[in-house]
Amino acid sequence: MTNCFAACSDRRARSYSTPVSTLRLGVNIDHVATVRQARYATMPESKNVEPDPVTIASICERAGAHGITAHLRADRRHMQDRDVERLRENVITKLNLEMGNTAEIVDFALRIVPDEVCLVPEKREEITTEGGLDLVAHARQLSPTVKRLHSAGIRVSMFLDPVPAQIDVAADFGAEIVELHTGKLANAFTERFAKQELERLQEAAVHAFNFNLQVNAGHGINYHNIARIHEIPHLTELNIGHSIVARAVFIGFEAAVREMLALMEDYRG
Ligand code: PXP
Repeated sequence: MTNCFAACSDRRARSYSTPVSTLRLGVNIDHVATVRQARYATMPESKNVEPDPVTIASICERAGAHGITAHLRADRRHMQDRDVERLRENVITKLNLEMGNTAEIVDFALRIVPDEVCLVPEKREEITTEGGLDLVAHARQLSPTVKRLHSAGIRVSMFLDPVPAQIDVAADFGAEIVELHTGKLANAFTERFAKQELERLQEAAVHAFNFNLQVNAGHGINYHNIARIHEIPHLTELNIGHSIVARAVFIGFEAAVREMLALMEDYRG
């Protein structure tokens, strides 16, 4: 796997202006709230509460991020309702709300009207979203939700494993976007497995593109494996969270976002 770090540093040395990328970057800022909740979950009114995800969202936008993503989970382990309400008021690029298909969260989305909703499967015991939605198995529950979100003017994305049958159902539902789950590629331990997964992602991207769906990708993408993501065709947007937050611990959010944008710059679709 190519290490893109050197290339990235070279580019930064040449210019520190915002890199121009045809591939758009949505920054998932959940883990800013994770840090805050680790200390202040039981003291939300404390005058010392920090860090503020809304402030970080503005910094990411200033660095060139094309959108901000937040996942309001049923267990509220990181983002809180008030965070998402404030993001709605303050995000000037695009707010993408990741959420499970529960009545409570759907009502919340219909009240705040994010620009996009990305429907994801959600399990209480998981550390992060573990797999794509099974649209084939849950069509009956998901179809009315897609209709309700559409009637509020919200674009709908579906987080899917790279499986053509799942993409067929997303197209049937009239979803605008599919987000392909890149977690298996990102975490592949062997080159053989990485190649297999990359092929599945490539085929799925072509399949979705042929349905006129916007093709996004996300999960596990970092400053190293992004080189592999460039091999997936037809991508419009990447949603990246953990690796940017982790990098920001060392160099700050503005630089972490700019570095990632620099690595996305020469995507050839
Ligand atoms: N896309 C979706 C649908 C996700 O659930 C997540 C994790 O919240 C991400 C992208 C970002 O994944 P990561 O934090 O691994 O970059």
